[in-house]
Amino acid sequence: MSYAQVYGQWQQDPEGFWLTAAGGIDWVRKPTKALNADRAPLYEWFTDAEVNTCWNAVDRHVIAGRGKQPAIIHDSPVTGTKHVITYAELRDRVARLAGALKARGIEKGDRVIIYMPMVPEALEAMLACARLGAIHSVVFGGFAAHELAVRIDDCTPKAIIAASCGIEPSRVVHYKPLLDAAIDQATHKPDFCVIFQREQEVAKLTPGRDVAWHEFQYGVEPADCVPVAGNHPAYILYTSGTTGAPKGVVRPTAGHLVALNWTMRAIYNCGAGDVFWAASDVGWVVGHSYICYGPLIAGCTTVVYEGKPVGTPDAAAFWRVINEHKVRSFFTAPTALRAIKRDDPDGKLVPPLPTLQALYLAGERADPDTIHWAQTHLKVPVIDHWWQTETGYAIAANPLGIEHLPVKIGSPSVPMPGFDVQVLDEGGHPVSPGTLGAIAIKLPLPPGTLPTLWNAEDRFRKSYLNHFPGYYETGDAGYVDADGYLYIMARTDDVINVAGHRLSTGAMEEVLASHKDVAECAVIGVADELKGQSPLGFLCLNKGSNRPHDEVVKECVQLVRDQIGPVADFKRAVVVDRLPKTRSGKILRGTMVKIADGQPWKMPATIDDPAILDEITQALQSLGLARG
Ligand code: COA
Ligand code: AMP
Repeated sequence: MSYAQVYGQWQQDPEGFWLTAAGGIDWVRKPTKALNADRAPLYEWFTDAEVNTCWNAVDRHVIAGRGKQPAIIHDSPVTGTKHVITYAELRDRVARLAGALKARGIEKGDRVIIYMPMVPEALEAMLACARLGAIHSVVFGGFAAHELAVRIDDCTPKAIIAASCGIEPSRVVHYKPLLDAAIDQATHKPDFCVIFQREQEVAKLTPGRDVAWHEFQYGVEPADCVPVAGNHPAYILYTSGTTGAPKGVVRPTAGHLVALNWTMRAIYNCGAGDVFWAASDVGWVVGHSYICYGPLIAGCTTVVYEGKPVGTPDAAAFWRVINEHKVRSFFTAPTALRAIKRDDPDGKLVPPLPTLQALYLAGERADPDTIHWAQTHLKVPVIDHWWQTETGYAIAANPLGIEHLPVKIGSPSVPMPGFDVQVLDEGGHPVSPGTLGAIAIKLPLPPGTLPTLWNAEDRFRKSYLNHFPGYYETGDAGYVDADGYLYIMARTDDVINVAGHRLSTGAMEEVLASHKDVAECAVIGVADELKGQSPLGFLCLNKGSNRPHDEVVKECVQLVRDQIGPVADFKRAVVVDRLPKTRSGKILRGTMVKIADGQPWKMPATIDDPAILDEITQALQSLGLARG
């Protein structure tokens, strides 16, 4: 069947389409109905089903005779180790960890925070929660204690599972002191913490609260899979919004299973026995969907890579992993390829890659140069696909497992079944092809996408549903061409994308504003050749402040690192007298971005005082920017 036929099939009978896809999942109780519109515009899928995620990702493959197949390959250049876990071993390890959690009182519906680097134990912790119907929330290791504390208070976990440390090429990341500081800062306290001690750093445990990973599991009864309702939250994953408070995206169990299983074949063209590798981190949605759940649900072998695209040891690291582990489908962010391209512009380090079928890119806009480089040197289809934490899988892609459509560079191709993508004007009316607008998706969203935000239904409605009634607002702007190909051009909100990481400028502004010398501030994302965007702060100091500007800037940079974390990559700020604003007081961030990037810009008609832009331009030029 062609893509057009499959998409047409879905359009004609969306519920029938997803019920058929549900056939790929082992159910405790099969769904009798696909869509539940009782609370429209809030929708659910497969509400009346009963199912267990861990069973589908692990146990069923052992029963099907795949017990000896590698489930996880851990390849860790930062520790110089490699190690394989088969499906049978994974089942035993996960059942034991789940048993230990159960013995300490973790039950269906309880929340468990996981704060771990790229080790197989992170996936085991996720799967152990899924086995019990506990709701996990994984927090990325590059976030600081404060961000962890905010998440602890929002999802009120009964337990936290953490590692003693993570390893960045340049330093050891001390997870345990960050965890301790976060628990100190948070109002909610977990009952207990399980600490996975790594040999690179053995952490000091807090008596009465912390227990070591192995000791915790010693002698426990392994736990069976607990059936949960189709709409039961599988996990909460926090993502950046416009303000400092992250949004807790809820992932519903049954839809997640059905949709990910469908994408593994349709988009990634992988099935049981194939090796799949997403070079991301378990702290991000890509890590949830395509390091942990998707490949395992489909019976693939997943690669857990603890290293970087360059420097561990060089720009050939990815190609070594692909060849050594016989990777069939490989997924990474364009920024990682840009880093490789910078070190190896002529592709001299790229060997023949006989097992590789395709390269998938997502997380940020894939620029044409990077795609050309990859096409030329990897000699496989390069597939850009567009998605968000909220959806959990691709909204638009080139579905290689259905049909390899012509590639249009700069476009993540076409909408996937389940997504009726429309480009709207400010009034909510669809615009004609080629016209830029807000990208929205006609409700209902398909199975597996977010039904709501954790404990924040009002915020869910306000953030996604209210602006364009009947649609989900993606927060991205772009256009559709005459062939139906989508082009994602920019965000419509204050979210920026740094090295494939989604960050909130609003959150950084909240931190800067807390500095005692800062009266007012603004953060924008300026174009960056390697990372796509890079944050830049403008600081207006309090009237009586006569501190040297470079001192204040240095403290502000440190403050963002301490409060949000190194992942924010906030390294540049500049002191200015005033910020450009509209007459109603809105900061003109968009204009500042254009000036910084040296792009053509127009004087906003609503600007309060045009002279301020000269001052901003000079400040930007002092940083080597605004050189149009
Ligand atoms: N734990 C702790 N700290 C982390 C971290 C983690 N898991 N990941 C990154 N950091 C830190 C880095 O050490 C760095 O700290 P520094 O300021 O002390 O140097 C900071 O966060 C910024 O890191 P990063 O964005 O990784 O920049 P980099 O300059 O070290 O590397 C790239 C540049 C392009 C190689 C890197 O950004 C990369 O691999 N990007 C791909 C990201 C990706 O796969 N995203 C997928 C999301 S789908
Ligand atoms: P995240 O929720 O962290 O996955 O970030 C989602 C955002 O990243 C999207 O809303 C887009 O702004 C951006 N994004 C992801 N994939 C792409 C892509 N293929 N092309 C352009 N932008 C993308």
